[in-house]
Amino acid sequence: MGAIFEASAVKISQRLQQINQMVEQGYDHIWDCCCDHGLLGMLLLQRNAAPKVHFVDCVAPLMQQLSLELARFFPPHHETENTDLALSEWQVHCLDVAALPLAQYGKQAKHLVIIAGVGGELLVELVRSIVANQQTQRDAQSGNKLGNHDLSQSTCQLEFILCPVHHNYHVRSALAELGLSLKDEYLLEENQRFYEILHLTQANACSKTNTSSKTTEAVPLSATGSIMWQGLDADKTNQAKRYLDQTIGHYQRIPEHRMPNKSQIVAAYQHILQQLNC
Ligand SMILES: C[S@@+](CC[C@H](N)C(=O)[O-])C[C@H]1O[C@@H](n2cnc3c(N)ncnc32)[C@H](O)[C@@H]1O
Repeated sequence: MGAIFEASAVKISQRLQQINQMVEQGYDHIWDCCCDHGLLGMLLLQRNAAPKVHFVDCVAPLMQQLSLELARFFPPHHETENTDLALSEWQVHCLDVAALPLAQYGKQAKHLVIIAGVGGELLVELVRSIVANQQTQRDAQSGNKLGNHDLSQSTCQLEFILCPVHHNYHVRSALAELGLSLKDEYLLEENQRFYEILHLTQANACSKTNTSSKTTEAVPLSATGSIMWQGLDADKTNQAKRYLDQTIGHYQRIPEHRMPNKSQIVAAYQHILQQLNC
């Protein structure tokens, strides 16, 4: 019998707890990328969120230590008494997230890739590589034979939950260009810092406008946010306004020559602020 992982005994940020809450059932593999001490993945393992939870980071000593902790808190099934329960398995990978080996797990597997706590530019590069690797794989398996590069024929096998540190406008614009659509998004404030959490899919965004605040259908990914500004109570509206004020101030301080489209960005955030003030 393994030791018990007590999430309450470890200080787990609200940010990681919110990401954990946004992970639904239905994935075959969940990847806690840039996992550091692996706390998010452990929350997922604790509630058996998917048949397999992967932990990925490029720092070898961290991953060795994490493997020991996982073996202690989440021992292999044959070592537990609960052989009849659908317990999650885990695997630790010491590698660059850009080289995530998704293809090793079969064409039909449904993957959720989570990347949190890294800068926006790195995060975009990692997602870009993962999507490009998957496309190369898809072309090699079928497209080349048929000469078919139609993305609409692809199945929805890959989703992301992303929480960059800074540069949300850049991240969102770049990910929309990669063809990712929005399933959900959430604005979180912790220790006087704001974080945007994005749940994205490769499935096409539906063409009709969805007016509900929470939707399981994908909608186009907006550079300034959409779902997260809807259906807010008074507290959340005040929080959103403070975030927008802060963000607008940030862009206004950037010299025009360093960001030629800055007035367009400021105007877009100001438009949302005006709508919240109505
Ligand atoms: C600040 S921690 C984030 C931990 C956790 N995901 C969170 O949100 O609190 C960033 C981690 O990213 C890892 N990292 C940075 N670039 C990476 C890459 N290309 N591949 C794998 N891990 C990377 C670092 O080693 C570090 O452990």
